[in-house]
Amino acid sequence: MAVKAARTRMIRRWRRNMDVLDDTEYVTTLTTLSEGSVRRNFNPYTDIEWDSPEFAVTPDDERWILPATDPFGRHPWYQSQPRQRQIEIGMWRQANVAKVGLHFESILIRGLMNYAFWVPNGSPEYRYCLHESVEECNHTLMFQEMVNRIGADVPGMPR
Ligand SMILES: [Fe+2]
Repeated sequence: MAVKAARTRMIRRWRRNMDVLDDTEYVTTLTTLSEGSVRRNFNPYTDIEWDSPEFAVTPDDERWILPATDPFGRHPWYQSQPRQRQIEIGMWRQANVAKVGLHFESILIRGLMNYAFWVPNGSPEYRYCLHESVEECNHTLMFQEMVNRIGADVPGMPR
């Protein structure tokens, strides 16, 4: 169905400036990505077995000890701490990494939604932006669930 011409000059100008339909390569890429999002997508509550025994959060689990690849993990002060303290710090750190991740994704989603708000009817950018936002929202749900299960009241990103 053809999109009706906008009523005001300002809206016509907006639409003209955001029209991508003449860029066939870009449109093809957006279409491919959007169709891919329908075939493959992620749901944190069906794709992750949160209640499986290996994901149980227990206070004495040495898997939380930070590895040497982590700047804190390789620090002599951290390595001099008792095992239990290393575990606690590791849990807090991993929870905060997840919180920073979801804050970052939240900013990304806001940008996508702000852009998509102005996209003209019929633009393939709208569908792509929304599929991507849905995917990123699912990632933030996953990260927040992880933070909640760890039980550390982490701040995430600094202001
Ligand atoms: Fe993500």
